[in-house]
Amino acid sequence: MSNAKHSVDLAADEIQPTEPSEAIQKEIHRLGLQSYIDELDEKGFTVLPPEIASPNHLADRLLEGVLDVAEKRSGVRPNVDDGATHAGFESKYGGESPWGEMLRILTLEGPVFEEALMNPVLLAMTTYMLGYSMVVSSYSALVKGKGDTCFNFHSDTLLPAPWPDHALVCNGSYVLTDYNRENGSIAFVPGSHKLGRGPVNGEEVVGEGGNPDAIAVEAPRGSLIVWHGKTWHGAYNRQTEGLRIVIPILFARPYMRTEEDLMGHVPQETLDRNPWRFRVLTQHGISYGWSSNDDALQRGATADETLAQYYEEMNGAPKLNPMDYASDLING
Ligand SMILES: [Fe+2]
Repeated sequence: MSNAKHSVDLAADEIQPTEPSEAIQKEIHRLGLQSYIDELDEKGFTVLPPEIASPNHLADRLLEGVLDVAEKRSGVRPNVDDGATHAGFESKYGGESPWGEMLRILTLEGPVFEEALMNPVLLAMTTYMLGYSMVVSSYSALVKGKGDTCFNFHSDTLLPAPWPDHALVCNGSYVLTDYNRENGSIAFVPGSHKLGRGPVNGEEVVGEGGNPDAIAVEAPRGSLIVWHGKTWHGAYNRQTEGLRIVIPILFARPYMRTEEDLMGHVPQETLDRNPWRFRVLTQHGISYGWSSNDDALQRGATADETLAQYYEEMNGAPKLNPMDYASDLING
């Protein structure tokens, strides 16, 4: 860590910085994602099909990974076929949970989850909204069985209205079982990301007699649903046997308060087998959050080193200071 400052200077000297907005546009073009970006801009969400979103049977491997994690944590392996393990799943706060069992902090659960986080398609879509300095706010799985409870509309932008034009958070969700209304799919209000506020006065209700503009997403397993941080979303109850399993990854700009606290909690071997961007995503480029003077110095050194290495890895597209985004919101 002692040479962190030196690394910063070295990178700044040697690299001709790439314009961040140009870099992400190139990446979107390279991956053939422009039509999904257009839909995202227009509706506030988009669905990428399995052939784009789930290379090398990623979704199948993620599903096995989720079942393993659930079994490890609770002793109960979810039964995907009949869903008996999760029918009417009770919330820890009482009553039936609208999302079922929640398995948190999947970043720490092994290589398949790291691969899913580093999926270039996921990163291109979300970087388009949040810039190169974005971090993971939360990385969870939801395992939902048959039930009666819908998840009402809300936005993940936890600020008083009016909200800024740009996204502060966004979501990329791996769909691991087929989605339709009967199966308990996600619901959206198309275009709601342009309203700059959350739902009020009954607009939040999902289901019978609820918001008339609600739509259910139909998507085969292996799809990736990406939505803007201001888009109103919820979920229908599952009316069929079996399980709905999804991995929502919430991303945030680096100055937002994240759900997960990852710096210093990711094993070194996990960091070592991934690119520097993984460290940035897992909050190792953020020095704030220290708990002592020594911790402040340590976090500062880690952040300096991480950002310097990331700057080199990305050929200068990210800024060295993630808070410095004044000229362009894709910066950072
Ligand atoms: Fe949400």
